[in-house]
Amino acid sequence: MQYHVNGTLVPAEEASVSVRDRGFMYGDAGFETLRAYGGTIFEWDAHADRLQATCEALSIDHGIGDDLKRRIDETLEANDLRDAYVKCSITRGVQPGKLTPGPADNPTVVVVASELPRGGENGESVWNAPASAELVETRRVPDHSLPAHAKTHNYLNGILARLETDADEALMLDSEGSLAEGATSNLFFVREGVLHTPSLSGPILPGITREVVLGLAEEMQIPVRTGRYRPADLRRADEAFLTNTTWEVRPVGRLDDSAFEIGTVTRELAAAFAALVE
Ligand code: PDD
Repeated sequence: MQYHVNGTLVPAEEASVSVRDRGFMYGDAGFETLRAYGGTIFEWDAHADRLQATCEALSIDHGIGDDLKRRIDETLEANDLRDAYVKCSITRGVQPGKLTPGPADNPTVVVVASELPRGGENGESVWNAPASAELVETRRVPDHSLPAHAKTHNYLNGILARLETDADEALMLDSEGSLAEGATSNLFFVREGVLHTPSLSGPILPGITREVVLGLAEEMQIPVRTGRYRPADLRRADEAFLTNTTWEVRPVGRLDDSAFEIGTVTRELAAAFAALVE
């Protein structure tokens, strides 16, 4: 396996960054998790835009531009990967030992990839593997502290949430008690045929899978509402599912101690998503 580190492909065992890298020391970095289907990165433009927005939120002016896509494609090619998980990170790099950042003239740019067959690991169909989910105490932090809309290396929010539960996903509320999102996924639920998801006005990551699913729902003429919802709205839903790049559309089979049926809307959207990436 070869990874791309600062513009060079290196054997995975030799791939390393400095212990003084600000991404490691302070989480001063942005990243994207991407998926390749048949050798092509799914929704590249959306991922590139979100990474750009993250770097702007952190004032990491890295100047990598289109070269990142070239590095990702090179990584896939060098490893002969067609269906793959790809993660690329851009950190502010190594700088003199003080917290106040200087210009990101020498960012650290890493691309790692591994095989991820369509339909999930071991050929299991991820969209048919219901997830357990639990509402946890850890709150999704509001925008004016850590930017929830940016995909930074600071995942402690999600890590603290996951530490609270054995469920597959930890669902967080925002500071006002409205449903936000999972530790690494966006939340959808269906009630009386209407698809609901927390709106981007709350502290959630603008998931790319979320956006694709909303587009599919529109095409399929499924009524959609986005808004601020309470846990009770989720508890009385008919069906619920989670979305992210690796899970795609993943039904929720259990919320806290209650079972959820895998409903028609979830099945139809999962099938439409699967058709899109075939
Ligand atoms: N995470 N919300 C959070 C907090 C996330 O970390 C993610 C994705 C999502 C879904 O975004 P998308 O559909 O663009 O993958 C929502 C990825 C999978 C990760 O942590 O690697």
